[in-house]
Amino acid sequence: MEETIKKEKFVIKGLSGKKTLNGSVKISGAKNVVLPIMASSILFEDGFTATNVPEIEDVKRMGELLEQIGIGVEQRNKNIYSFKIGKKFNTELNRDISKKMRASILLTGPMLSRFGEVYFPHPGGCVIGKRPIDLFVNGFKKMGAEVRDENDGYKIFTQKGKLNGAEIFFNLQSHTATETFLMAGVLAKGKTILKNCAMEPEITNLADFLVTHGAKIKGAGTSTIEIIGGGLLKDKKIEYVTMPDRIETGSFLILGALSAKKLIIEKCNPDDLEVVINILKESGVRITTSKNEIIVENNNPKQIFNGVNIKTHEYPGFPTDLQAPMTIFLTQAQGESTMFETIFEGRLNYTENLVRMGAEILVWNPYKIEIKGPRKLKGKKLESPDIRAGLAFIIASIIAKGESEIDNVYYIDRGYENIEEKLSKIGVNIKRI
Ligand code: EPZ
Repeated sequence: MEETIKKEKFVIKGLSGKKTLNGSVKISGAKNVVLPIMASSILFEDGFTATNVPEIEDVKRMGELLEQIGIGVEQRNKNIYSFKIGKKFNTELNRDISKKMRASILLTGPMLSRFGEVYFPHPGGCVIGKRPIDLFVNGFKKMGAEVRDENDGYKIFTQKGKLNGAEIFFNLQSHTATETFLMAGVLAKGKTILKNCAMEPEITNLADFLVTHGAKIKGAGTSTIEIIGGGLLKDKKIEYVTMPDRIETGSFLILGALSAKKLIIEKCNPDDLEVVINILKESGVRITTSKNEIIVENNNPKQIFNGVNIKTHEYPGFPTDLQAPMTIFLTQAQGESTMFETIFEGRLNYTENLVRMGAEILVWNPYKIEIKGPRKLKGKKLESPDIRAGLAFIIASIIAKGESEIDNVYYIDRGYENIEEKLSKIGVNIKRI
């Protein structure tokens, strides 16, 4: 049963710019890969077990959606879940849950290619932009489906109960659209060619997982992906190990640069964050990396970071999900920096709260801001508008002088596992009330 969303808040005592955090943090499994992996359970004749699954709200919501479709979801242990196809199915996605999570749209591809129909409400999620779904509607039509726009949702179905493979050119590189049609192609009749695909590491990871279960997928991680329909093999008994969350990794890397004497980030994959590591190093941050570890340290307390101009961009460019945490970094960098958000309109709205805390930010237009630094921040009462700005407010509160309150921590819990334990362990004074 879905828990009612608790209105909790974090209270954080700031370090007034001192760099005293110390220790290590273990990165959890990636939210944005485990959600499509969970959705792919609809493609299986049997099921599979996933490990290193982050215990976050979005995973619980996706589990609830799957249960209501007819997939058995069982938590075997902490961070270990198994998924098993059931006997009867419901092809209507739960409205309340879908409205809370944009990633519910990932279910449409597997459901259409498995059951030949799906009803889903216009998906909700963060307030970072209007979140259109034209790429999905146009793609399913190309694969032979009909789309009926009902009250505030869509009924999509195919007369023959199957999708036909098709050639689809995405007008925009879309992370979840690429994943959705990659999964749809696995059970579609014939070959599906996807062009102008997104190239995030989560997409490659999803494709690799499905290929180990017999899917015929080529080109994941490049802009053209080819899928030959034909289904998945049974009884492959291969466990899926969730890849590390590169956005959580980047968030802790930025926090470490701003507030740690030395921070060891474990169980991560530095290769997924090259652009972030390069930019921070060029700004003057001391970072060393090894296979599954990143170490950031501030030996020289007088160290200043040079301002940088950043533009968010599809992978492998600067990730939009690290735009807000990085803006906090820029408020502490020397001189003038700019942040140009090219993916989502509305994803810079949080900056007015930073100005309230003492940052000097000039809004050029809804996509571009100029930040002058370094500026001392003062603790304030804040409300997290979305998952990533919520984490950015945590970082800002930690470097600020005085106490901050961050409301609406449900958003932060959507994307970060045990965040207050991880922060307390390295020396942050944070309480959840
Ligand atoms: C994924 O969202 C992530 N979510 C987002 O992370 C991330 O911010 C985003 O990719 C960009 O990296 C998951 O993977 C579950 P898009 P997605 O489709 O796929 C436009 C987080 O905090 N677009 O790549 O929904 C869209 O408006 C979340 O973890 C259309 O125009 O993003 C945006 O401008 C937030 N029509 C652009 O494409 C469509 O049909 C890229 O969005 C679909 C998208």
